[in-house]
Amino acid sequence: MRKKKLRFEEFASLPNCITQPLELMGHWQQQFDVPQPLWLELGAGKAYFAVELARRHPQWNVLALDTKRERMFMGAQQALEAGIGNLRCVWGDAEVLERMMAPAELSGIWITFPDPYPKDRHARRRLTGPAFWEVYRRVLKPGGQVHFKTDDPVLFEWTLEVLEHRGLPLLHKVTDVYAPEIELPNPDAAIPTAFEARWRAEGRTIYYLAVTFT
Ligand SMILES: C[S@@+](CC[C@H](N)C(=O)[O-])C[C@H]1O[C@@H](n2cnc3c(N)ncnc32)[C@H](O)[C@@H]1O
Repeated sequence: MRKKKLRFEEFASLPNCITQPLELMGHWQQQFDVPQPLWLELGAGKAYFAVELARRHPQWNVLALDTKRERMFMGAQQALEAGIGNLRCVWGDAEVLERMMAPAELSGIWITFPDPYPKDRHARRRLTGPAFWEVYRRVLKPGGQVHFKTDDPVLFEWTLEVLEHRGLPLLHKVTDVYAPEIELPNPDAAIPTAFEARWRAEGRTIYYLAVTFT
């Protein structure tokens, strides 16, 4: 119990960590030095992907969101040590994204190696499920993008079906991100996440797709 409380205080004490995201709806830009297009990584884990995204795109502001603050603490520290000022790590739940973001507040979303929730009774928690796409459409600007990477072929196929059913055309679809002959349509798709490094070491194939909302 004590350890958990200490962790919360440690997380909250970092200047780039946010613990009350519902209070920031419509005001996220105030968390940054300059207002810039706002990108969000959902289920960011250790947030190393978001750190690199922020480093590569200083003209964006980047949020990493996860329910596990102990994991994000790692990325938050890494960003501070590297002097990356356009990243914030947010302790929060994607299930209430619509209560965190005003309509059209985001320019882009990355969903990186989300938990696949393979059981049917947990399907509504999948971050690429139908209800989430409806939320993404609302919180993104017109022309906003959603990018998705996974090592799970079943989740990837299921997501393609969900997108087809919703009439959402694909911007990119890559069925083996690290295939030698592949020229990735988006170089950011090759930024490795912490889980991805593990899955690649096991020889798993990495899948990627992207969607643009008009
Ligand atoms: C398999 S891990 C992947 C972490 C990271 N994206 C990576 O690739 O290293 C899935 C992450 O999603 C987070 N997660 C699951 N459901 C979530 C939700 N509803 N809101 C926010 N984060 C969630 C988990 O806590 C976990 O850190």
